[in-house]
Amino acid sequence: MSKKRVFSGIQPTGQIHLGNYLGAVKNWVDSQDDYENIFCVVNSHAITTTQNPQELREKTFELAGMLLACGIDVKKSNLFIQSEIDEHPALSWILDCNISMGEMNRMTQFKDKSLKNSKNVNVGLFNYPALMAADILLYQTDGVPVGEDQKQHLELARNVAIKFNRDFGECFKIPEPMIPKVGARVMGLDDPDTKMSKSAKGANHAIFLLDTPEEILRKIKKAATDSQTAIVFDENRAGLYNLLSIYQIFTHQSKDEIEKDFEGKGYGEFKIALADVVIEALRPIRQEYVRLNAEKGYIAKILAEGADKVRPIARETYQKAKELIGLI
Ligand code: TYM
Repeated sequence: MSKKRVFSGIQPTGQIHLGNYLGAVKNWVDSQDDYENIFCVVNSHAITTTQNPQELREKTFELAGMLLACGIDVKKSNLFIQSEIDEHPALSWILDCNISMGEMNRMTQFKDKSLKNSKNVNVGLFNYPALMAADILLYQTDGVPVGEDQKQHLELARNVAIKFNRDFGECFKIPEPMIPKVGARVMGLDDPDTKMSKSAKGANHAIFLLDTPEEILRKIKKAATDSQTAIVFDENRAGLYNLLSIYQIFTHQSKDEIEKDFEGKGYGEFKIALADVVIEALRPIRQEYVRLNAEKGYIAKILAEGADKVRPIARETYQKAKELIGLI
């Protein structure tokens, strides 16, 4: 039996942080053997917010290098740059014409992002979910491994695919979201009520994968908690719950085991243990990133090969959609 296909993407904006890693990238890496994998650096999505062209180009390759450093194995997975396959924006247009303003207007990320980027609220930002739906639907995707914040966008992708298939004939596979049980929404260390994000301003908000051990220790020591003392999983204690969840993912221990280990111990001891675990998990990634980044030609070659491999799938789906809708 052939393997199911997964597709996912990540934007080359800012540095990749622990939320991106635990919510998405680590799961891509860990399940590479189980699926046929397509991963994409979504640089066309990145231009929905203001970017410096040269920096965007650099960040695109750097992010690809980071994904390889995290363990994306090109023998098992295809990795490519979104803008290298013209069918993405082309299909996005067809989907635009099949999504109602009402449905698009309900997207909460557009509301959040337009508040944060009030000087550049462009039509691309509004249409962002249609391009994301095109990314997924072009590859006849079975599953989409993402963090929880992408749930609404995925619902839209499913809805437009169902509508298109019904109105014009069978064209797209209906993709299933794959959202992890733990790590789907890693919160900011300085403010556990907001999602960890690349754009937040606070110096102690996010742990980036390229942070040094000293920076990781400092940020975890400063992480916001509460005035209680017991180290237990309690969702009402958002700061501690977030830290414990991170600890749980890296140690693969059960909640009970972790609570037992820290019985009678305080925040100080727990935070040092957590910092150790995070530092050791990120150390090999950082080392591999530095090594790979010195081989820019190698990364470019991998990305070109990745695009060449998946382009025929995108072409076939796009041709079918065009024909069904009467565009030729
Ligand atoms: P992006 O670049 O914002 O984030 C990449 C992935 O990281 C996840 N993520 C988080 N998970 C847990 N906790 C957090 N604090 C956290 N922050 C981010 C995101 O859920 C995502 O999985 N729209 C997408 C990119 C995209 C895409 C696609 C994804 C474009 N086309 C097609 C899947 C399929 C985005 O902005 O991701």
